[in-house]
Order: sequence, then structure tokens, then C-alpha cells
Amino acid sequence: MEKIKRTRIIEALASEEYGKDINVKGWVRTRRGSKSVNFIALNDGSTIKNIQVVADVDKFDDEVLRKITTGACLSVDGKLVQSVGSGQNVELQATAIEILGTCGPEYPMQKKGQSFEYMRQHAHMRLRTNTFGAVFRIRHNMAMAIHRYFHEHGFYYFHTPIITASDCEGAGQMFQVTTKNLYDIKKDEEGKIDYSDDFFGKSTSLTVSGQLEGELGATALGAIYTFGPTFRAENSNTPRHLAEFWMIEPEVAFYDINDNMDLAEDFIKYCVRWALDNCADDLEFLNKMIDKQLLERLHFVVEHDFVRLTYTEGIRILEEAVKNGRKFEFPIYWGADLASEHERFLVEEHFKRPVILTDYPKEIKAFYMKLNEDGKTVRAMDVLFPQIGEIIGGSEREESYDKLMARIQELNIPMKDMWWYLDTRRFGTCPHSGFGLGFERLILFVTGMQNIRDVIPFPRTPKSAEF
Ligand code: 4AD
Ligand code: MG
Repeated sequence: MEKIKRTRIIEALASEEYGKDINVKGWVRTRRGSKSVNFIALNDGSTIKNIQVVADVDKFDDEVLRKITTGACLSVDGKLVQSVGSGQNVELQATAIEILGTCGPEYPMQKKGQSFEYMRQHAHMRLRTNTFGAVFRIRHNMAMAIHRYFHEHGFYYFHTPIITASDCEGAGQMFQVTTKNLYDIKKDEEGKIDYSDDFFGKSTSLTVSGQLEGELGATALGAIYTFGPTFRAENSNTPRHLAEFWMIEPEVAFYDINDNMDLAEDFIKYCVRWALDNCADDLEFLNKMIDKQLLERLHFVVEHDFVRLTYTEGIRILEEAVKNGRKFEFPIYWGADLASEHERFLVEEHFKRPVILTDYPKEIKAFYMKLNEDGKTVRAMDVLFPQIGEIIGGSEREESYDKLMARIQELNIPMKDMWWYLDTRRFGTCPHSGFGLGFERLILFVTGMQNIRDVIPFPRTPKSAEF
């Protein structure tokens, strides 16, 4: 038999070449049938849609038909025919079926409607389900949209290091990187670990943000963005935190905080619009199965301006709500960091729109943010989204060497790790701004999924690094 070149199911389903002999390969989703004919729903990951393979029972060995079980991998030759009432335009009238891989009843994705918790325990196999197929096709599309957006807007993709000696966010949530023998750690007279014989000759960690190096890029190339893995050893077991996540960090010379807000809003709308334009089938599925308001919410974000207000105004609204009887788990007052419940109150209940909150107290924000004239607040901006809370965090940067130095000393940040960063302020300093978008938080928003562990293929969280 002559070998036919494989057609992806997405193309087969769109084809109108009725009568043509084609080959498809994929995994069995379901098989049902009668004494005379079997219907096999085959999926190859190219689309959420299955192709219906029709197999006349008397044309195939019993031996072959018996192996067509849920999860088995098949190669099918057949004639593409117009379909009557299968929900698709076409189906495949099978002429030859080869079993590439059998699949027994212990296949963990056998049953429909398993819980997400169950799926996480089988994260290596959950990729083959409708939901995770949809999520990861959308995830790919969002990565493409991000690169396209920045490329089209004159930003350069800039690679910042993953191993670093500085703590950008100053939150002390870093994973250490060492080749030292942990059974035989040398300490100096003060009891401090001596890193001089470690691989890099100093203490190093996995990066929590590429921003500091990104600022060096922006103050040379004008506008850059990073898009890479980011690590935080924060012990937060929430549906919105990962220990390993991906972050996109644009940084732009000569931008002030208003330019920065315009960029953030335009950028995120572009990404959501991209999903609506390019992921229609997957979004429709998620809208039906996961979150009935998903499409409505995506359209709403694209079509409406984000509300912009200061942290101080935000606190006033929250305090007013408390006065009127609204209960929050965490106390709210000027100076407090906002919890997700506060952020979501502003977005979902008060404004009913995405919100950009600016000018936070300096005490709850990172050292590099530009100090306002009041001496108390900094030019920070957090973008808050429905269902998510904070999706973007950014700021105008402190460009004055003296003010930045003062802040570094105030916070006791070790200078020896920062000299190269301070050189941006010594040699031709300039106003500049940037922000960080948590990639998985964007995917949460765009897919309507509820848990961040379900929008990254292999999640890393406290006490969990399987697969
Ligand atoms: O607000 P963050 O900590 O800001 C920064 O890291 C800045 N250096 C960004 C910049 O200005 N260039 O983090 C930025 C975003 C958050 O808004 C959130 O979306 C995401 O990163 N994020 C996380 N996502 C998943 N898991 C975690 N543990 C996250 N921590 C932050
Ligand atoms: Mg933040």
C-alpha cells in the first residue's frame, strides 16, 4: 500500500476535497458503534475538534478494532467525505487503520469530568484532554502575540540572565544556586558562609526579575522587552502564585508613568484581541465548559478604557466600603498593601472595569521606583484585572543617582551587588519606565481557568516539583 503523507486534523476538517484519500494520525478520544459500523473520534492536538473516523466493521480485523480504545494512537487512511449530521463538514471513511500505540484501561485520562486536582496529579497526561489542549494552544498564541506586539512597536527582545547575584525586588525570595557540597560548608570567623570557592566565586540565585538588566538594555537600545522564566521562593499556596513562572518586562527610555500606563493598556488589549481573533474554537469550548462569562469578559476588556486612580483614592473607596458594611479578611488603611480581595473589590464591584492604581506608599514598593514630590509615595502602577487582581506591576524609575543611592542606603541593600546598576544613573541617566506582566496571570484571564497551576504545563509550587 502506498504511504500517504499525513494531513493534520485541523486542515482535514477545513478541507472540501471530498473523495480525496488522506492519512491522519492521532489519539482516540472515544469510540462508539453498532454491529456494522464504528465511529472513532480522533484528535491530534492541532485543534480542539476531533475528526470522525467511520470504520465498517466487516472491513477490519476484530483484532484491530479491539485495540481502538480511548487513548490509543492510530494512523488512519481513508476517504474524506461530506458528513451528514456529525457536527462537522467532513468525516473520514477508513480504508486502513494501523495501531501505533495501544492504551489500556489504566490510562489516567480515561474518564471524562475528572477534577482539576486529579488532573494535576497526572499532569504529564492531562495535556491530552480537551481543556488542557485548549489552554496550551492559547498559551502559545499569547506568546506569539507578545513577540508580535513588541516587534511591531520597535522594542528589541533582550535576554537577561537567569542566574544572578542581585535581588531585584529586594524581597529575599530567591532560590540559591550553588555547586558547593552541602555536607561540608566552610564558614568564616563570623559564621558566614564563604562563597569564594563556589562556582561563581560569590553567592548567586535564580532571578526574580530581569528588570535591572532590562534597564541597561533600555538605556542603550531605547526600548526592550524580556520574556523569560522567573523564580520566587515565596511560600504562598494560592491559586495565583507559582515558584517558577514566566514574566514579560518591557522597559522604555524617556517614558514617564503615563506613557507606561498607556503602553500597558494598549499591550494587554492587543493580546486579548489576538486571542479573540485567533483562538475562537478553544475560547468557545472554555466559555461553554469552564466559565460562561469568559467571552463577555474578554470583549469587555478590549472595548473599555481602564480606570486610573491613585492608591490614596483607592484606599478611600475601600474605607468607605468598610464603613458601609463591606467585610474584608485583611484590614485596610493608608499604608497597607492591598490584598487580592481589595483589588478585586475595586475592579469587580466598585468600578466594574480594569483599574490602574498608581502612587503607592514607598514602604510597600521596591527601591528603584521614582519618589514623588510628597516624599511619601512612589510612581508605581499596578494593573488590576477582574478575577485575577494584580496582573501587571511596574513604575517610573528613579533616575537621580543621589535619590536612588539614598534609598539603597535606607534599605541597607548591599552596594557591592549594585554598582553596575548605579552606572546607568552615573553615565547619561534618563527618565525611563517599565513593567512586568505575569504570563500565567494573563493566561488565567484569557482562558477563564481558576488555578494558575492549570495554565502552565508543569507547575512548580511549594512541596511540588513532579514531572
Ligand atoms: O509586581 P512584580 O513583583 O514586579 C516586578 O518583578 C518588577 N521587576 C516588574 C517590572 O517593573 N519590570 O511582578 C510582576 C508581575 C506581577 O504583577 C504578577 O503578574 C507576576 O509578575 N507575578 C507572579 N506570577 C505568578 N507567580 C508569582 N509568584 C508571581 N509573582 C509576581
Ligand atoms: Mg507587584
